Amino acid sequence: MRTLLIGGTHFIGPPLVRRLVRLGHAVAVFHRGRTHADLPAAVQHILGDREHLADHAAELRRFRPQVVIDMIAYTEPHALALLEVFRGFAERAVVLSSGDAYRAYGVFHGTESGPVEPVPLNEGAALRSVPFPYRAMARGPDDLAYHYDKIPVEQAILGEPSLPGTVLRLPMVHGPGDYQHRLYPYLRRMDDGRPAILLDEATAGWRCTRGYVEDVAAAVALAATDPRAAGRTYNVGEAAARTEAEWVRAVGAAAGWKGEVVAVPGGRLPAPGNMAQDIVADTSRIREELGYREEVPPAEALRRTVEWERANPPGQPPPLDYVEEDRVLAEVKGRPT
Ligand SMILES: NC(=O)c1ccc[n+]([C@@H]2O[C@H](COP(=O)([O-])OP(=O)(O)OC[C@H]3O[C@@H](n4cnc5c(N)ncnc54)[C@H](OP(=O)(O)O)[C@@H]3O)[C@@H](O)[C@H]2O)c1
Repeated sequence: MRTLLIGGTHFIGPPLVRRLVRLGHAVAVFHRGRTHADLPAAVQHILGDREHLADHAAELRRFRPQVVIDMIAYTEPHALALLEVFRGFAERAVVLSSGDAYRAYGVFHGTESGPVEPVPLNEGAALRSVPFPYRAMARGPDDLAYHYDKIPVEQAILGEPSLPGTVLRLPMVHGPGDYQHRLYPYLRRMDDGRPAILLDEATAGWRCTRGYVEDVAAAVALAATDPRAAGRTYNVGEAAARTEAEWVRAVGAAAGWKGEVVAVPGGRLPAPGNMAQDIVADTSRIREELGYREEVPPAEALRRTVEWERANPPGQPPPLDYVEEDRVLAEVKGRPT
């Protein structure tokens, strides 16, 4: 199958591209040429900016893609431009969306009022009613975060009968290449020999669906190559969501850390959101309809992630205050400081 990726050279893209090539598909990636990845030589690179996708229509169509996988559709104009270029020229479109489309995500971040959403969230669960989930964090209207919203992207992609679409709602992804370094703050403490990792009590019990990058890439490849995925929306992620405390212990096991995870009561530590709202996805649909299964055992996935994080620490280390952590730990353990 001839498969074109919009994006594809940063985090989820490379394992997806390698998998598609391994499966015998012809692959092209469209990107600006700023991010370099070790991709198979057979992969064709088409250079350009997706903000001006239509300017590259002739070259993109010349590849004759059967499936277009949009790795980086963040706004409605992105999705509309994709349809404009490939309507009548490709058989299917697949877009990477996010669990942040769900109302539960807005409840977690405090942008949605009302009760918490029951979990697990299946694909029919309520979506956010408040648009642009990252606008408050944006530097201004020139920042992509200002305009980011996967909900209109999903609606556009699923609303075009002449280019059947598939939407994949991704979880929190970890693995080699994670430029967000999601598990690094924990790993750094472990590698610094901290005796304990402190979690706010509500955070310790909070559940969130995660996914290992190679498994997520396998799910995308499956959806892109199985015609039964046309017109469907799928949650992607681990079948069972771990609590944050379980997650930190698993990272610790992969890192060879001997410390303990300590839940701190009373709101003494900051929490990243409304921890009463778990963000747990029901991933049974993609398993039942397309036969999706994880291939990398969770412990091995974390071993590979830890190895990569150690070799590629973030340029800016996380702000860590071990003096304060020691004080809270002593308080919790009932010892004088
Ligand atoms: N990571 C997570 O936990 C997570 C969670 C939920 C959803 N998602 C979704 O997963 C998707 C994949 O993210 P990823 O970073 O792993 O994808 P990726 O495809 O591996 O990397 C991003 C690619 O986009 C290209 N690119 C960026 N801006 C571009 C532009 N203006 N024009 C053309 N190409 C451009 C980059 O190359 P150049 O720099 O060379 O242009 C790079 O190839 C996103 O849609 C994200 O919302 C991720």
